[in-house]
Amino acid sequence: MPIEPLIDAGTIADRVAALGREITRDFLGKDIVIVPVLKGSYVFAADLARHIDLDVAVDFLSVRSYGDQQQSSGVVQITTDLSRSIEGKHVILVEDIVDTGLTISYLHENLGTRQPASLKIASLLHKPSRTRVPVEIDYLGFTVEDVFVVGYGLDYAQKFRNLPYLAVVTDGDA
Ligand code: IMP
Ligand code: MG
Repeated sequence: MPIEPLIDAGTIADRVAALGREITRDFLGKDIVIVPVLKGSYVFAADLARHIDLDVAVDFLSVRSYGDQQQSSGVVQITTDLSRSIEGKHVILVEDIVDTGLTISYLHENLGTRQPASLKIASLLHKPSRTRVPVEIDYLGFTVEDVFVVGYGLDYAQKFRNLPYLAVVTDGDA
């Protein structure tokens, strides 16, 4: 599958560091729980966490979104749930990309019922052109066009997650 570079590693690192500083400022004096949505956000979350200068707990969620490789159906199932209660905690959901918004809106609603003290969303990428459910992203890395993005944790058929930069899958004719 041919790919083309989209955002280089240095640009990503600068943006992620800035998001970490922003979160640090916003939650000064508070403990937070970051909740990376596996698998796509594992690289972003690991880098982001290291730029947050607070007491940070990490807990993971795994979701399955029914649909084919490039389309999410909107039916989301939590396949691995949090290991601890988030009641009374300041929680930040960490996503790799908000595409239609179906996954993150489902998770936001689900975690919202668990009485967190606050619940925010961080996403490395957003594809606003594909929005089906509008979601407010509190900490956003980059906005992208309607392209399929891989690298820095994001996959195409489980490949490219280990790419240190963001790239676009091309059809090969481009
Ligand atoms: P949504 O529910 O349509 O917002 O889709 C969110 C999920 O679909 C993301 O967390 C990704 O796992 C996957 N996804 C959507 N667009 C892309 C993409 O461009 N590259 C890789 N994964 C994507
Ligand atoms: Mg994902």
